Amino acid sequence: MVEGSARGRRTGLAMSRLLVRDLAQVTTPAGVAAPLRGAMLGEVHVVEEAFVLCGEGRIEAVGRMRDLPALDGDVEELDGRGRCAIPGLVDCHTHACFAGDRVEEFSLRAAGASYEELHAAGGGILATVCATRAAGEAGLRASVERHRGWMLAQGTTTFEAKSGYGLDRDTELASLRAIAATGGVPTWLGAHAVPPEFDSADDYLDFALGEVLPEAARIAEAADVFLERGAFDAAQACRYLEACAAAGLALRLHGDQFTEAGAIPLAIELGARSVDHLEATGAAGVAALAASDVVGVLLPASSLFLGRPMPLARALVEAGAAVALATDFNPGSAFCESLPLVCSLACTQLGMSPAQALSACTVNAAHVLGRAGRKGRLAPGYDADLVLLDAPDWRYLAYHLGGPVVAEVIVGGERAR
Ligand code: NIG
Ligand code: FE
Repeated sequence: MVEGSARGRRTGLAMSRLLVRDLAQVTTPAGVAAPLRGAMLGEVHVVEEAFVLCGEGRIEAVGRMRDLPALDGDVEELDGRGRCAIPGLVDCHTHACFAGDRVEEFSLRAAGASYEELHAAGGGILATVCATRAAGEAGLRASVERHRGWMLAQGTTTFEAKSGYGLDRDTELASLRAIAATGGVPTWLGAHAVPPEFDSADDYLDFALGEVLPEAARIAEAADVFLERGAFDAAQACRYLEACAAAGLALRLHGDQFTEAGAIPLAIELGARSVDHLEATGAAGVAALAASDVVGVLLPASSLFLGRPMPLARALVEAGAAVALATDFNPGSAFCESLPLVCSLACTQLGMSPAQALSACTVNAAHVLGRAGRKGRLAPGYDADLVLLDAPDWRYLAYHLGGPVVAEVIVGGERAR
């Protein structure tokens, strides 16, 4: 009850108008009905010496200061001098619902152990499963809230988060509820790993699809599967995803992270929203993805964190694939919640331009989450989610490697940070 009324008061505040004025630049990607690809991916619209006017949680107008009309009534003003506005960032791939950490594993990897070896030895994902099962729903909610605060500080105003560290009925459903309660977009990653109480992946899937899916489908918006050697094979992933689609969930896949095991053809066949990772994707996979409507979600922080090859992003972009960028924030393979850092990696390691990077973690990421009509652009009618960069040029988003580039974050027309 108390929380409900607090939310009501916040919503009430959002009814007043906010004018962000005297901005050095306002920058937004283009908007189309489908994810941006080809030349459009890199064509952002920049307005110099500009303002953004927000009202009732939406963007009312964007324009040049010299065209700012007289505004009647109560308008809060925010000085944008020396700053650039970009859309609130959209992180379309995180594992933000977990307990514990893997700092010990991080040290072992630093000394030479590989991620796959640690996973095969019962560490890795399964270590986080133990901690997450022990956390309880309140603990999980506190964890997602904490991680949401970290993301917000880096300019992320919309985030997806997956379950997948419970792998039993109660903890999977508690994870999805914790994500939804915290404002995240919940994805059921029911097929992340085979938990120790099951002898085979098929037995585990019998349980997950029979016992967890019916309730998970009421909370989650999408389903995801780890299609990889040592996790689930293509036939198992197909079975899981077909059942999830029949229950009304959109489809995502973790694919081609270490090996090409059929994720791209399966994603295309099933009409998935995205296939994510792609570090091991070769030329045929690039061509197939480019010829499809499936978005390739690139996670360079994961490659960096694991010391693994980067995905063939430039080849994907040049072949005309629709790509998005995300953090993959999780305790094992990418303990990184910063989309600005991911944009820096996109420009320095993936051969993408700053404009392509911005489109990839705003409008295209919003498409992956089914929110492209409201999120990911600065244009009238979109949700008033903005990041103000402490920079004279919006490209500092990627240019200022690891720097304090985010000055202010506005969510739904309210100053959130
Ligand atoms: O996307 N690869 C599978 N899942 C996560 C990592 C999860 C973990 O290591 O805890 C990923 O990298
Ligand atoms: Fe992931």
